[in-house]
Amino acid sequence: NMAKLWGGRFEAGLDKKTEAFGASITFDKKMARQDLKGSLAHVTMLASTGILTEQEAETIKAGIQKVEAKYEANEIDFKIEHEDIHMNMETYLHAEIGPVAGKLHTARSRNDQVATDMHLWVKDTLDETLDKLQNLREVLVDLASEHVETIMPGYTHLQHAQPISFGHHIMAYYSMLTRDAERFAFNIKHADISPLGAAALAGTTFPIDRKETAELMGFSDVYVNSIDAVSDRDFILEFLSNASLLMMHLSRLCEEIILWCSHEYKFVTLSDAFSTGSSIMPQKKNPDMAELIRGKSGRVYGNLFGLLTVMKSLPLAYNKDLQEDKEGMFDTADTILTSLDVMSGMLSTMTVNEGIMSASTEKDFSNATELADYLAAKGLPFRQAHEIVGELVLACTKAGNYLQDVPLSRYQEVSELIEADIYDTLNSRTAVARRNSFGGTGFEQVKLQIELASATLQQE
Ligand code: ARG
Repeated sequence: NMAKLWGGRFEAGLDKKTEAFGASITFDKKMARQDLKGSLAHVTMLASTGILTEQEAETIKAGIQKVEAKYEANEIDFKIEHEDIHMNMETYLHAEIGPVAGKLHTARSRNDQVATDMHLWVKDTLDETLDKLQNLREVLVDLASEHVETIMPGYTHLQHAQPISFGHHIMAYYSMLTRDAERFAFNIKHADISPLGAAALAGTTFPIDRKETAELMGFSDVYVNSIDAVSDRDFILEFLSNASLLMMHLSRLCEEIILWCSHEYKFVTLSDAFSTGSSIMPQKKNPDMAELIRGKSGRVYGNLFGLLTVMKSLPLAYNKDLQEDKEGMFDTADTILTSLDVMSGMLSTMTVNEGIMSASTEKDFSNATELADYLAAKGLPFRQAHEIVGELVLACTKAGNYLQDVPLSRYQEVSELIEADIYDTLNSRTAVARRNSFGGTGFEQVKLQIELASATLQQE
């Protein structure tokens, strides 16, 4: 059975179905570029340390470059019988340059090779994630800047609580996504370490130079323990967990957009490019993409739990279980990268129905706190003010009107502290403007947040 790179110890071939079961090439082919990059660094080091002759190394490098060109030209036909990306690539190299290809695997194992590929792949993906995340954060800041003075109801328990600036509401999502960006950026630290040279698990007898390969591949450090190097998947779990938090944030925003698009709210209108119709109900315009992002948070959480479960109780060092680390990781990357793009497009083309939004704070009791604060500011203990306003709200509810409809004479019966300026105080715009405590919804505070955010984005 010489067709297999590990065939020497075997007399009979692998059962066909089992071969497909054990193969990872159908998915780990996504790491082709990383695998070639690692091999190129490895062979360069094998020559500089004198483990291979310059001549051998040059032949192998030229071969790797040919394989790379074929890969980029889409001319490589990955085969199940070569099991994974590592052995597929080596087989192609052999076809290019003959038996000297067999020297590439000196002082290397697929265990450190696969770990290296994964580190490179996660690093690339983190860069891409941070780019797209930055783009979405910019979209949020732009949207907020346009709506600093757009009034909307602020909710607690999904009940009108106090009027707020729509820009302020949007900037809350900016804050969440900025923490996400910080987490993904920290994730780079743990992905940016080279496992190459750990070999199977114990290191190697050859005088390799791990720092050299690390530098050639662009890693800033090397693993200090060879067993950890081949068994660590924390950097992937961190990616999956950061991705889960990101999707949780996106799904909260999506849920709000879905509510805001409904007939009951009508706060926003999505552009046609990000909505779909119904095959039976001609009037429908559905916020499908927001629903889908909300739904896709499920698979990302699932991928995190999948890998946590694979890793649980796994003895050191490499075990084939670790091959299960890849599909969830690829799927998570595809999901978050696409979700970030769709989210940016959806928000930047969304129409905010400012009039409807602010009107919904005019026929409600979200100004009740204003009246209580008004009395408290004039010296009445807040608890007493709260009680008085509560009774007024109850009376209004029975009469079918609102605090702004109560005549001044009635207010003065309730408390002589109340004067004609109460009507301006009860106005929702005034209520928002006056909430000028640091981090509050007052226009000045929202502008300050936007300035801070713009400065942060510019520095990145
Ligand atoms: N395809 C394998 C994986 O993804 C590569 C490492 C295989 N190593 C081994 N000793 N079987 O984990």
